[in-house]
Amino acid sequence: MEKQVVVVTGGAGYIGSHTVVALHLAGYTPVIIDNFSNSKPDVLKGIAEIIGEKPQLFELDCRSKSDMQQALENCAAIGEIAGIIHFAAYKAVGESTEKPLDYFENNIGSTASLLGAMSELGVSNLVFSSSCTVYGQPEESPVDELAPILPAESPYGYTKQACERLITDSFNSSMSLSACLLRYFNPIGAHQSAAIGELPIGHPNNLIPYLTQATAGLRGPLTVFGNDYPTDDGTCIRDYIHVMDLARAHVAAIKWLQSNEPSCEAFNLGTGQGKSVSEVIAAFEKANGISVPYAFGPRRAGDVVSIFANAEKAHQNLGWKCELSLEEALRDAWKWQQKLSKA
Ligand code: NAD
Ligand code: WQD
Repeated sequence: MEKQVVVVTGGAGYIGSHTVVALHLAGYTPVIIDNFSNSKPDVLKGIAEIIGEKPQLFELDCRSKSDMQQALENCAAIGEIAGIIHFAAYKAVGESTEKPLDYFENNIGSTASLLGAMSELGVSNLVFSSSCTVYGQPEESPVDELAPILPAESPYGYTKQACERLITDSFNSSMSLSACLLRYFNPIGAHQSAAIGELPIGHPNNLIPYLTQATAGLRGPLTVFGNDYPTDDGTCIRDYIHVMDLARAHVAAIKWLQSNEPSCEAFNLGTGQGKSVSEVIAAFEKANGISVPYAFGPRRAGDVVSIFANAEKAHQNLGWKCELSLEEALRDAWKWQQKLSKA
C-alpha cells in the first residue's frame, strides 16, 4: 500500500515532535519541515529512540512559498499526502509585544505561503495549531467553540486569530481546502520515555518549565503570580493537557479530514478540568515526592483569571478525549527535566 505521508511543519518543536511520534504509531509517515529557529536537530535522535528511525526532514523556512512548494513535491514523491499539520510559528506572548513585526511576518507569512503551496499542488487537508488565547478573557468557563473571539491581547494572539481567518477565508474561496483549527489550552509534560520534551530556550515564561527548573535548583523559587484572584485558593485557573494526549488529537484530526466532506471547523483541545496554580504545585509534589520552592508574588499583567475547555466537540467529532492525568503529565515533565539536568 502507498505510504500515507503527513507533513509536519515545526515538527522539531515541542508539540510537533510528540505528534511525529503519535503519527508514526498510527501508521502514517511523518515528514518534518523545520528551520530550527526554536529547536535543535538533536530532537530527531530523541524521536528515533522512540520510533526506531529518524523521520525525514526538510530544513527550510516556511515563509518561502517556493521552498514549501518544492518540499511538498518531494513529500508527494514519498507517498500520498494525507494532510499537513502546521505548527511552525513563534509562540512567546511576551516576546511578541517586543517584536510584533517578527510575529506577524513569521506566523501569518508562513501560513500564507503554506496555503499558496497547498493550492499549487492540490493538497487539501490542513490541521492548524491555534490557541485558547483567541478567546481572550472569556466571561465564563468552560469555554466552547461558540464563545466570542475577543480582541487579541497580544500580537501573538492576533496572529492566531488572523491565521484562523486566513484559513477560513481560503476555505470559503474557490480553493480546495479542508481544515481543523485546533485551539490548544495549556500543553505540558513530555513523552513517557523522556527521549523528547519541551526545550525552553532562556528564561521560561510558562509555569511548568519554570517550576521544574526551580525544583531542579537551576533557577530561584517559582513566583506564583497572584493569590488574590476570585478563585477558591486565590490563584489562576487553567486547563493543563498532557502533550501526548494533544499529539493524539492531531492524528484524530487528520483521520477526520480524510474521511469527511470538506469543511473548516474549530476544536478546543483540553481536559475540561480547571486547575489552579496552587493545585498544580501540590499535584507535582505528590506525583514526584519532592518539594517545589515557591513564593506568592504580585499578579502578572494580562493574566486571565480562569479559563478551561469544553472539549465535547472534539470528543463527538474526532472521537478523541484525554486519557492521561495531571499527575502523569507532571511526572513526565519532571522526568524530562531530570534528563535535561544530567545532559
Ligand atoms: P516550538 O517553538 O517548540 O515549535 C515550533 C517549531 O517551529 C520550532 O521547531 C521552530 O524551529 C519551527 N519554526 C518556527 N518558525 C518557522 C519557520 N518560519 N519555518 C520553519 N520552521 C519554523 O512551539 P510549540 O510549543 O511546539 O508550539 C507549536 C505550535 O502550537 C505553535 O504554532 C504555537 O503557537 C502553538 N501553540 C502552542 C502552545 C504552547 O503552550 N506550547 C499553546 C497553544 C498553541
Ligand atoms: C499558567 C499559569 C500564570 C509562570 C500561555 C499563553 C497562551 C498559550 C498557553 C500559546 C498562569 C501562572 C506562570 C510563573 C506563575 N500559548 N504562572 N508563575 O498564561 O495560561 O498561557 O501559554 O498559545 O497563549 O499565554 O500559561 O504557563 O504562562 O501560565 O504563577 O512563573 O501559571 O499566572 O496562571 P498561560 P503559563
